[in-house]
Order: sequence, then structure tokens, then C-alpha cells
Amino acid sequence: MQQSMHGMWSSRLAFILAAAGSAVGLGNIWRFPYLASDHGGGAFVLVYLACIALCGLPILIAEVMIGRHGHRSPVLTFQEIAAQTGASRAWSGIGWMGMVAGVLILSFYSVVAGWTLHYTWLYLRELLGGPGIADPSATFGELLGNPLELTLWHAAFMLMTVAVVALGVEKGLERAVKFLMPALFGMLFLLLGWGATTGHLGDAAVFLFKPDFSRIDGAVFLTAMGQAFFSLSLGMCAMMTYGAYLPREVSIPRAAIGVALTDTAVALLAGLAIFPIVIQYIGTPTGGGPGLIFTSLPNAFAQMGALSGLVFFFLLVVAAWTSSISLLEPTTAYLVERTRLSRRAAAASVAALAWLLGLASVLSLNRWQEVRILGFGIMDFIELVANDLMLPLGGFLISVFVGWVLSGRIVREQFEGVPEAVFRAWLVLVRYVAPILVGIVLVRGVMARF
Ligand code: PFF
Repeated sequence: MQQSMHGMWSSRLAFILAAAGSAVGLGNIWRFPYLASDHGGGAFVLVYLACIALCGLPILIAEVMIGRHGHRSPVLTFQEIAAQTGASRAWSGIGWMGMVAGVLILSFYSVVAGWTLHYTWLYLRELLGGPGIADPSATFGELLGNPLELTLWHAAFMLMTVAVVALGVEKGLERAVKFLMPALFGMLFLLLGWGATTGHLGDAAVFLFKPDFSRIDGAVFLTAMGQAFFSLSLGMCAMMTYGAYLPREVSIPRAAIGVALTDTAVALLAGLAIFPIVIQYIGTPTGGGPGLIFTSLPNAFAQMGALSGLVFFFLLVVAAWTSSISLLEPTTAYLVERTRLSRRAAAASVAALAWLLGLASVLSLNRWQEVRILGFGIMDFIELVANDLMLPLGGFLISVFVGWVLSGRIVREQFEGVPEAVFRAWLVLVRYVAPILVGIVLVRGVMARF
């Protein structure tokens, strides 16, 4: 089969924009800066870059490759490949786990994206002459303490996501990313310009790129590997699904390198935009945690003007939006293939499920704050299981499947026209380096956390 029943990307650029849109998200602009700040700046960045190059990139290539071979949703693709290669049908469990992880991630991702919608609204209101944010910590605290408000923003963001996925690959996903990704880059460069005017760009670069090797320990590795998977949208078959819509003639390694470079560049540029502002208005970045951009930055925006706040939070909304559609797409595609539901109904059903699950995250921020699962709050627990366990486990299994189980003929077919040296290097990474490194991090992570 050369085509997918869901539609196809119209060009290589369309795929790169969609896949980069999936990769670039809250992970780059919200999570990466605060993780770097919590884990010693340069030390974390260095380990993170190694994780992307040695594990992220080869697994990204593997996912896209499997997707393009099957041209279907992950579960059916695995079933078909298993039949062709005489492997066990149990491998399709990777697709099932991916769908579960996708719905779990979407459930809390949409809640956090709802916060960014709320802040976009606050700055828009200020710009239109309404009241500003007087006390950023109090504002953030009030939002988290108000389940109704959180639920409504969560619902609004979920509706935005369904609206795109319901329209399908060409009319929904592709049209959205072609318009949103350039907007995202425009806003990022604007913020970078603002950051540069503080005169602290150099300090921010030193913070991000000068590694203090004494800060590199096991915890940095675990966090960096988890972040590499989360940021590249790996391990839950989202990239595999996007690969299913990729035309034959496109070179997968080249496209994947483009996506990985874009994702990494945006994380670093987001750091270079945010840290000069933090240094100027708040001081040396150490720690800050998930609240970094919601409490620290509004202090700076109060002095820089509401427009800077509006641009920053709208940038986050756009980044989150192009990612959330890739969280919804795999399960939607599966339902379209296996049931009589239309794409619209399928997307709406999955989103409704993720929205309902998201209510548990909403309530864990206020009414259910005391509830603990294995010592974690509900939202933290879902994030931990999905991001830190399911994604690396999915990535590990995908690399084993492609490196050791899939027939050489199928692999070779997807690498047509790719230089032999590139193919060999990828094979070593996907067979040995990625599964061993991810395996170690996974086992140590489970031991450290539970
Ligand atoms: N890569 C996204 C981010 O960095 O925000 C998050 C994400 C999207 C993870 C899609 C996984 C996924 F399948």
C-alpha cells in the first residue's frame, strides 16, 4: 500500500512542519527552561543533547520508518508487520501502550495548556485597558485553586484540538501547522530580541552552555532522557502515525534530522529568550520548578509591558496546540480504521475521554490536593507514569523491534537512496546504543522513584 486512508502530507516540508509542531511544545518552552534551571544549566543541556543525538534521533527515524511502511494507525501497522515477518502479534502492544500514553498525556497537557490560555486572556485584557496582574504568585495561586476556571480553560483547549483533528490530515493538521509554525518562530524571535535588549544574553548563554561537570549525576541523566523523549514526542507512536502519512520519495533520515534540530534549537532559543529576562528582573536562575514561567516571568512582564506577556503566552498556546493534535491523532486514526465512527466523532470521543481524565488533574490542584498515589499527587503521578515510564519503555521496545525483529528487507526499503554510511551508523545506534542507554535509565529510574 502506497497511501493511507487518512490522507497524506502534501510535501516533505508539510511533514517536517507537522512533526516539528508535535515536538515543539510546552516541553520546550515551559519544561526545558525550568529543568535546565533546576539541574545546573550547562550540565543538564550537555547530557540532554547527548540523549537526543544517541537515542532520540535514531528512535525518531525508527518510528517514522515503521509508520511509513504500514500507512495505518500504530496497532494495525504492528499487526501487519508482525504477520509479514512472522513475529508475534504481541508487538502490537506497543501501539496499545502508545494510545494509552497519548490519552494520559493529553489529559494533563490540556490542563497546563489551559493555564497558558488563561494568561493569554489576562494580558489581552490588560492591553485592552483592563486590570493588570498585580501579584503574580497570588494570580497563579488563585487560578490553581479554582476548579471551575481550570475546567473551562481545559475544555476550551481540548475543543481547539478536536477542531483541527476532526478536519483530517490535509485540511486540519497540515493547514494548521503551515500557519501556526511560522507564527511560532516569529514570536520566538521577537522574544529573543526583547531578551537581547536586557543586555544579559551573554550571561544566559554562559548559564546554558558552560557545563559544570560536578553537577552531572544520575538524576540529571534520568531527567534529561525523559525530557528528550517527551520533547521529541517519542515512545507513544505519535511520530509513527505522522510517518504513516509520509510520501515514499521523502528521505526519512533527512526529515528526522530536520525535526530533531528544529526541536533542539527551539528549546535552546527559548532558554536564550527567557533567561536574560529572568536574570535582569529576578536574578540568577536557580530552581523555580514548574511555576517558573507562570510566577517569575509575569514579574518581568509587569515592567516590560503587557504586550510582551501576551506574545509569550500566546507563543505557548500555539506550541501546545500543534503538539496536542499529535496526541489525539493516533487514537483517532485507530477508531476510524476499526469502527464505523466518522473522523469527527472519533476525535470527539477520544478528546472527551482525555478531558474527563483531565478533571482528576484539575482537582488534584485543589480539592483533591491531599490525595496521594504511591506518594505522588494525582497529576504528578499521571505525568510520571506516562512521561517517565511509558515513553522510554515504548522507545526501548521500538528500538528492539526495529533493530532485531523487523526483517532487513523492510528496513532497507525505507532507506532507499540513503548513503550506506548513514544507514550503518543508524543501525548501530538503534540496535545497541539506544536500547542499552534507555534500558539503563529506565531501570534506574524505576528503582529511584518507586
Ligand atoms: N513534544 C511535546 C512537547 O515537547 O511539548 C509533547 C508531546 C507531544 C509528547 C506528543 C508526546 C507526544 F506524542
